[in-house]
Amino acid sequence: MFEMIANIAELIMKASWLMLPAYLANPTAVVFGGGTPVDLRKNWRDGKRIFGDGKTFRGLIGGTASGVAAGLIQMQITSMQYLGTFTLISIFTMSFGALLGDMAKSFFKRRLGYDRGAKFPLVDQLDFVAGAWILTYAFDSVWFSDNFLASPWIMVTVVLFTPLLHRLTNIIGYYSGLKKEPW
Ligand code: CTP
Ligand code: MG
Repeated sequence: MFEMIANIAELIMKASWLMLPAYLANPTAVVFGGGTPVDLRKNWRDGKRIFGDGKTFRGLIGGTASGVAAGLIQMQITSMQYLGTFTLISIFTMSFGALLGDMAKSFFKRRLGYDRGAKFPLVDQLDFVAGAWILTYAFDSVWFSDNFLASPWIMVTVVLFTPLLHRLTNIIGYYSGLKKEPW
């Protein structure tokens, strides 16, 4: 029993360490967001916005920069390298990919007729994981294979743990006045 708890704790630590740039990019996009939307207020063929006002250049740049900053710091903390080591490419693709995933989600939300800020359960919580993983696999497949594909339990942990963490951060974001909705 104790051993099982220790194993789960180690999985969560490794998963959070590897996902930290992506985990940070999302909420910092909310902090830095605002201003010109990425779709320049243009509509798609269906007459609805391409992404909507919730996806802005400032959010994209501020979120990516924050994730990259976290990753650069992580690369310097030698005592933590047993949890996983980053490459410069993976730091960038995990951060930027997270926000691309979030933006792709907004695209599909708009096509489905959901208003900006509407709840999209589970997709809202895992869009950025999918984005981070896909972009990283595309541009740094060796790093992705070594750190995720080689340890499927880490991937399972990320998929199960992220929705919990996401709920928690968004509730904090809501009560601190940063986010309009608690999801
Ligand atoms: N944000 C941003 N740029 C991004 C991502 C987020 O400016 N690339 C900011 C926006 O102010 C946005 C807020 O963070 O309103 C919350 O992000 P999110 O929940 O992803 O967007 P929603 O407003 O809920 O829009 P959507 O329905 O498209 O998900
Ligand atoms: Mg939202």
